[in-house]
Amino acid sequence: MSLLEIEMSLYEAILARRSVRSYTTQKLEKGAVSSLLEAAIRAPTAMHGEPWAFVIIQDQQLLKKISDQAKPMLLTMMHHNQHQHALKLFELPIDQDFNIFYDAGTLILICGNTKIKFFGGDCWLAAENLILAACAMGLGSCIIGSALPVLNLPEVKTKLGIPNEFTVVAPIVVGYPDDMPPPSSRKHPRILSNITTGSVN
Ligand SMILES: Cc1cc2nc3c(=O)[nH]c(=O)nc-3n(C[C@H](O)[C@H](O)[C@H](O)COP(=O)(O)O)c2cc1C
Repeated sequence: MSLLEIEMSLYEAILARRSVRSYTTQKLEKGAVSSLLEAAIRAPTAMHGEPWAFVIIQDQQLLKKISDQAKPMLLTMMHHNQHQHALKLFELPIDQDFNIFYDAGTLILICGNTKIKFFGGDCWLAAENLILAACAMGLGSCIIGSALPVLNLPEVKTKLGIPNEFTVVAPIVVGYPDDMPPPSSRKHPRILSNITTGSVN
């Protein structure tokens, strides 16, 4: 699959994109990950810092292991009320079978070089490019922020080949959607001011 095969307009992809939490077992086509990364690195980057680097995990056993390690940490956070709202929102059952990666076949980690200014902003812009490109390619995706505490543990970073100066910013699962949620609602944009020439001294 190449970016040239994308038929959805950018605006259509922006409106259609949803967080997908159910995936088929169909593997990504050869080249799909490269197309997604190519889209990611086209993001704007402050002072042309390009602070990003990527880890691609397509090993279900490893993903399950990371998920199992993340769950007790999530439960602790819920206990301290940090994630309660979010978890209620997704109605996530944090039981034995629950996989925080929703059994997707691919997890892409966008890592940021913390020595480069504005690495966080740049990596999130890359994340948005990646998930919109995925949508346009007929793929589902979901950002898995709940995996961040475990992914950034020093021993996990070492295992995943992430150097010290990098931090995981955006974990994103990608795969073929089993069920594509309908477009989601949003509040209307809150406009604090609408300033035209001469309306402010
Ligand atoms: C920073 C961030 C972290 C997120 N973490 C999770 C997560 O851990 N698990 C999950 O299922 N969805 C996660 N999401 C997805 C949001 O829940 C989702 O974007 C939101 O509910 C709006 O739904 P939509 O993306 O389908 O429009 C995350 C989104 C963002 C931006």
